[in-house]
Amino acid sequence: MTRLSSKDVLRADQFSIEEIDLILETAAGYERALEAGEILEDMRGKVLSTLFYEPSTRTRLSFEAAMLRLGGRVVSVAEAKSSSASKGESLHDTIKTVEGYADVIVLRHPQVGSAAEAAAATDTPVLNAGDGAGQHPTQSLLDLYTILKEQGKVDGLTVALAGDLKNGRTVHSLADLLSNYDVRFVFVAPPALKMPGEIVDRLRAKGIDVEETDDLAAALPSCDVLYMTRIQRERFEDPAEYDRLKDAYVLTRAILEPAKASLTIMHPLPRVNEIATDVDELPGAAYFRQAANGVPIRMALLSLVTR
Ligand code: NCD
Repeated sequence: MTRLSSKDVLRADQFSIEEIDLILETAAGYERALEAGEILEDMRGKVLSTLFYEPSTRTRLSFEAAMLRLGGRVVSVAEAKSSSASKGESLHDTIKTVEGYADVIVLRHPQVGSAAEAAAATDTPVLNAGDGAGQHPTQSLLDLYTILKEQGKVDGLTVALAGDLKNGRTVHSLADLLSNYDVRFVFVAPPALKMPGEIVDRLRAKGIDVEETDDLAAALPSCDVLYMTRIQRERFEDPAEYDRLKDAYVLTRAILEPAKASLTIMHPLPRVNEIATDVDELPGAAYFRQAANGVPIRMALLSLVTR
């Protein structure tokens, strides 16, 4: 296989195992080329447009770095209020305009389903960089790539996803993506922030073992990967509810005492208070390596959707 069946990347559950392998292998090839100092030209003459209607550091910069590393160019809207969206332009009209400027579009937007709506408006490839509390498929691919690099495998692992599983799009996509493998999940969340039932049902229907708990310390000893997430303040209607839940889980060296020595600790970042900074020095603290993995994965996606 050399191509993806869809030129759009909208959801983590859209990929076949063969497509996931193609993306991972392409990313690994690019990573080796970057390490060897090669100058790449795969996207030469092409333009990427990044449209970010919600804040971002890693996703936007790593997509832009990926395009530049491939010899392509980038035009960017980094803030909704600096674009015509603030004048009331519809997403449809914005996308119809941008298709005249770019060969590939990366969109982050607060509304669930916005990436699918954008993709329906254009033949230009659309990559979903986060649609509200919906999906974040490119993040889940770099998360999978990170697990493979850190643990050497995915099959047989126990993976804990902890924090705001209700509103966190990274964990929605990661749960779907990892359900292609023989994993066991432990979902750790306060009752108010549990993983949506439809996702849990989808995983169990695929034969995946899912345990749900609100007790991080009790869950920890059996885990191979612990994926922490931020409580998603921007999704709360009631600030008091956010204040009540914001420090639900704070990972410290003391809490990590009974964990496996080989535990991989991940976080999509930004972290607010979920991981004490002295955890960063532990060999299993992988979150900054995880962020760096965004570049080869996004290089792979950009080149594959424009083939
Ligand atoms: C995440 C996001 O935007 O969903 N960040 C990211 O893309 N690395 C996670 C978050 O904001 O909590």
